[in-house]
Amino acid sequence: MSETKNIMDYDTVALDEGKKAVVIIDQTLLPGQTKLIELKTAQEIWDAIYLLKVRGAPAIGVAAAMGIYVLSLEIDTEDFGDFYTEFCRYKDYLDSARPTAVNLSWALRRMERVALKAGRDEKRSVEEVKEILHQEALRIRDEDIEVCRKIGEYGLDLVKPGDGILTHCNAGQLATIKYGTATAPIYLGQERGYHFHVFADETRPLLQGARLTAFELSSAGVDVTLICDNMSASVMSKGLVNAVFVGCDRVAANGDTANKIGTSVVAAVAKYYGVPVYICAPTSTIDMETPTGEQIKIEQRPETEVTEMWYRERMAPEGVKVYNPAFDVTNHELIAGIITEYGVARAPYTESLKEIMERKAGK
Ligand code: MRU
Repeated sequence: MSETKNIMDYDTVALDEGKKAVVIIDQTLLPGQTKLIELKTAQEIWDAIYLLKVRGAPAIGVAAAMGIYVLSLEIDTEDFGDFYTEFCRYKDYLDSARPTAVNLSWALRRMERVALKAGRDEKRSVEEVKEILHQEALRIRDEDIEVCRKIGEYGLDLVKPGDGILTHCNAGQLATIKYGTATAPIYLGQERGYHFHVFADETRPLLQGARLTAFELSSAGVDVTLICDNMSASVMSKGLVNAVFVGCDRVAANGDTANKIGTSVVAAVAKYYGVPVYICAPTSTIDMETPTGEQIKIEQRPETEVTEMWYRERMAPEGVKVYNPAFDVTNHELIAGIITEYGVARAPYTESLKEIMERKAGK
């Protein structure tokens, strides 16, 4: 592997057709080591998602779509009924890897729908169904690039050259196929000479902001400053932040938004200092079946992530109780706008999100 290759030149998630494998950058090793790994079995794909080797809602969706396609190639039958039973077994297993990011179940359901349409409704052969799954996985990947670019365009209209932007966690290229969601306006602005000053929260406990966002933005030549999570009030109080752009894992029908733990703290502080908070949300992340944030299932993760995982030695007393939710819900009242590929939704979100979804459905 070339030493000089920039992290921005790698595919976050790719399909190796010859090897019948999903290829990802192992994000747990970044920024120290850029290593590509091949995922071929259901266990390998599930582990990669659970262990955050591939992470970020859109990237998880693409990995799952490519993953279920790769697994479908192993289903050895010509009977669609038998194929479908096995397909669903894989699908349910992959879906169980992480509960909050709706893109996981969204992508798997989309793959299931095309399989059913081709195999059951159109009576295509299992071979043809597999090829249709292949094309759908590639379509999900390609759409992600287009969606992120559009979010970037809408987001860029909300800021001006020279602005300070704060982001939390990594909703960057490493969380998608290209551009990222929260970073899309930053990258498009970079292309157009906007010279943003970006503050990246380090994002405890898994340091996605330090390890991934600061890494990819600085690799792309963006002016980025890393801060600890407890410093956002400090930079906002000094007037250094004009807007907050963050990603999301699930947006409820009323605009309440689940994103990386700590996002709601940033949003509350931003409200206090009059800084607008924009949620960058592909419509694949909007879950109209979940009425409010209260119904969003929040993933709980192992306590070792808090006590010792990134330290040379354990940094908490043995036996101390630990609470480690991976996400929190930002109340819709703290959100200035939800940027989708179909435009920016504003309060009241119950109506604006419905309109966005209708626009998507072509109504
Ligand atoms: O636990 P992670 O690293 O998967 O959490 C990622 C986030 O919270 C992102 O902000 C979100 O998935 C949006 S990525 C475009």
